[in-house]
Amino acid sequence: KKGGFEHYMLKEIYEQPEVFYNTIKALEKDTRLPMLRIPAEITVVACGTSYHAALVFRYLAQEYSSKRVSVEFASEFKYYTPPLRDMVIAVTQSGETADTLTAIEKAKARNCSTLAVTNVLGSTVSRSADWTVFMCAGPEISVAATKSFTGQLAVFMGMVNVMADGKFTEVLAHAHRSIERVLPQEMGAAVSLLLSATEMFYVGRGVFYPVALEGALKMKEISYIHAEGYAAGELKHGPFALLSPETPVVAICTPGRTYGVMLSNVKEMKARGAPVIGIGVEGDTEVESIVDVFIPIPEDHQMVQALTVSVILQLLAYQTANALERDIDKPRNLAKSVTVE
Ligand code: M6R
Repeated sequence: KKGGFEHYMLKEIYEQPEVFYNTIKALEKDTRLPMLRIPAEITVVACGTSYHAALVFRYLAQEYSSKRVSVEFASEFKYYTPPLRDMVIAVTQSGETADTLTAIEKAKARNCSTLAVTNVLGSTVSRSADWTVFMCAGPEISVAATKSFTGQLAVFMGMVNVMADGKFTEVLAHAHRSIERVLPQEMGAAVSLLLSATEMFYVGRGVFYPVALEGALKMKEISYIHAEGYAAGELKHGPFALLSPETPVVAICTPGRTYGVMLSNVKEMKARGAPVIGIGVEGDTEVESIVDVFIPIPEDHQMVQALTVSVILQLLAYQTANALERDIDKPRNLAKSVTVE
């Protein structure tokens, strides 16, 4: 049943190149998407991993289009509803998360148009929303969301491509190959650095900030190590007090506008004794020389790097949890779908 893999989570991680490819292809055939005439102001509501995918969308939409995207936790939206934009998008793998369903009802009551992004055909959310776009992830068994996150990113990146008049069609068409390349990544040295940790940080900037949040969620969910994701610039506004040789940091240092400042941040963390696992592009000796463990990803467009770094962080969480002999597919205290408030 697990297709030769030790856990569903690993099987689902390995399915991601196909999930991304299939979702992008399905979107291309979905002629309704351009017809949606994605409005100027969008609010996205979601929980957990789906919320992180929505944050990635916000960064990309801001950078590559003139749309205004705000993102809300569905659980907050119910009680503290902001002024609503033209369209509310509900993102939910299961399509059954109670808070997200309530949020969409609220949006309908306020006369917003509604779009569901989900993985489950016939799910409650798909019946409530005006429009539904499906991610083609297939059934996700492991409690930890992996391939559904990639499916959500595919939908959002496809939407950004529509907003940007097709500028990223080529980038998205080959992205699955970069994901394939990071799957066999050997994580032994990074895992060894984490095995005795009880707390750790993940830091990134821009689109890699929500990627860091998602990496930290994966780590705490399945390994039970207390992992916090931070926008790298925020670390010195408090969390620096916690840095020591016992608090490893995973730092995402990809090329681009924030590369230089990320490198300075890493040096500051090292100066406070924190062991650093750095993620950067292949051959980046500058990053490699200042971190304790270097994990390379292929050089690519930042959208694709958001995908490959996410996969690396899933593998890091998986391999750490496996070394700690955790119950990976069914972590303690959690259910796959949260159908109560
Ligand atoms: O089915 P949904 O996408 O609405 O679920 C939302 C969260 O419960 C879910 O993403 C949760 O955070 C995952 N277990 C994280 O891996």
